[in-house]
Amino acid sequence: MFEILPGILEKDWKEIERKLEIYRPFAKSIHVDFLDGKFAPNTTFLDPAPFARYAQDFLLEAHMMLEDPINYLKPFADAGFRRFIGHVDKMPDQGAFVAAAELLGEVGLRIDAGTPVEAIKVRLDDLDTILVMTVKAGFSGQSFMEQHLDKVKQLVAKTTIPIEVDGGVNESTIKVGCMAGARRFVATSFLFGIETPDKQYQLLKECARPFEA
Ligand code: DX5
Ligand code: ZN
Repeated sequence: MFEILPGILEKDWKEIERKLEIYRPFAKSIHVDFLDGKFAPNTTFLDPAPFARYAQDFLLEAHMMLEDPINYLKPFADAGFRRFIGHVDKMPDQGAFVAAAELLGEVGLRIDAGTPVEAIKVRLDDLDTILVMTVKAGFSGQSFMEQHLDKVKQLVAKTTIPIEVDGGVNESTIKVGCMAGARRFVATSFLFGIETPDKQYQLLKECARPFEA
């Protein structure tokens, strides 16, 4: 079963809310990017609290591009986030993050474009998901870098947990992602393409359908 997660990477709550309202009729899960400027030259809205009013509508997934994301777990969980994805790139203690997050919901680790699979120091089966970046973390609207799908293939050979791909997903890159073995796809800028976001979302689903087992 493939899943498409509409993404949100925004600085203002008004724009976030506009996208949440757009996604609400068709999406079950959404991916929210939080950036504090320490890992990439970009920042986003960082307060999880107002998301609470959407916690019944979506499974809220937090992509935590934050220094020491363990410190954010409690406020994110209180706001209704149910999947917490930390980075391996500068995490002081991956095991502590995983142990704390799994008490609050699902937990994942994220490997950025320049990071190898070996940077994951916890047992893969202690995770609920692994997020593989197919762009350098920081911005929406970048081009998909297919070489990072090698990491998806390596992970699929080692674990059955769902592998998620984030960055540059469109109607052609989703197909190579499916072939590599990824099961979840984040899409942000593609949803604001030629057609309306719900049609763009359905198009991605159609593109993935032939790869269903
Ligand atoms: C990048 C973010 C991605 C990004 C995806 O740091 O983690 O989630 O917003 O945007 P698109 O789909 O436009 O590449
Ligand atoms: Zn993301």
